Amino acid sequence: MSTNEQLLGRAEVNDLEAILSITSKDVDELVHAVKDNADAVFTWNYEKGERPALNKLYEKAKGAQWNGETDLPWDTVVDIEKVVASAPRDPEADPVFIAATQPGAPLANWGEKEWGQFIIESQNWTMSQFMHGEQGALVCTAKIVETVPWIDAKYYAATQVMDEARHVEVFAKYLDTKLNGHYPLNAHLGMLLDDIIADSRWDMTYLGMQIMVEGLALAAFGFMHMLTEEPLLKQLLRYVMSDEARHVAFGVLSLKEYYGELSDAEMLERQEFAFEAAVRMRDRFLQQEVWERVGVDVRSMIKLQLEHQGDKNEDPFQQLLFSKIVPNCRKLGLLDRNDGWLRTKFGEMGVIQFEDWVDTGSDYESLSLDQLENERLAADGAAVA
Ligand SMILES: [Fe+2]
Ligand SMILES: [Fe+2]
Repeated sequence: MSTNEQLLGRAEVNDLEAILSITSKDVDELVHAVKDNADAVFTWNYEKGERPALNKLYEKAKGAQWNGETDLPWDTVVDIEKVVASAPRDPEADPVFIAATQPGAPLANWGEKEWGQFIIESQNWTMSQFMHGEQGALVCTAKIVETVPWIDAKYYAATQVMDEARHVEVFAKYLDTKLNGHYPLNAHLGMLLDDIIADSRWDMTYLGMQIMVEGLALAAFGFMHMLTEEPLLKQLLRYVMSDEARHVAFGVLSLKEYYGELSDAEMLERQEFAFEAAVRMRDRFLQQEVWERVGVDVRSMIKLQLEHQGDKNEDPFQQLLFSKIVPNCRKLGLLDRNDGWLRTKFGEMGVIQFEDWVDTGSDYESLSLDQLENERLAADGAAVA
């Protein structure tokens, strides 16, 4: 079994210095190359529908394409004041912010102006990381098309490449035309994306991207969709979610079959990778770059955030982030194998309580575009009445 040191490069998950030492390098580089270490695999078995669940998903995906240019109301004027007012976090309900605003703490002297600036920066940062993560998904699913040995999975993954291109496109357009200022890729997220791409085994791309990164994204989009009152963003997120729910289902369906054949030793490597991914994603949400930009002492703020990590599990935002990942890991047998190694690790991270929540193997039905149309008709009906 690997140690935290081997998996994360630090013995303690909450080692402040080690977390701070991970920063974005080469922020001025225009392209970033990662060796993907994998064979491109052909299959001569063209039997469509050999995996009926994947085939069904593929047929659904074909009929669920939308156009990022024409299906979204880009003429909406985004009122930044309103965006600030409906920001997806409530400082007064957040244990970190409560601690950070005590006398002598880093945000003690913050007034309306500082909070407003923070919320705007936080929004730019969040949307920027979503955009970069979407590009990660674009690259990963292109790799899956090449590496997965099943024809039904290649077909499906090809539709996801198109979906992810559209997601990168709409997040980039939103940032460029409605907000101001991109943030570079967060270093923790960058490390995770590099690790996912670099792994030679086809199922690791699925685990890292479809289960971990997309599981978290689906939860984060859902939370932001629920809270934002900005109509363009709300609609953009709802459209993206209709695709993402399918993507997570693709991961769960494919890995469920494959993991059934793996030995304990092979499963342990998957469990360790899932743990590493969970920690990197937790670290990314410490949003170091935002604290730096708003002129707050980064070290004190990260320290406070780590100290209140336990309380953060009471915070609905933090809760929802892991609410899809943990049940999906359970469904795949990742929590239980090897004497519950990952269950123990998720327990230490304070996120294991979600294991009995519903997995997202079928979320794509309730989040589909047909369903969106029904929601719209219901809303119109309510407006008329
Ligand atoms: Fe996506
Ligand atoms: Fe996706």
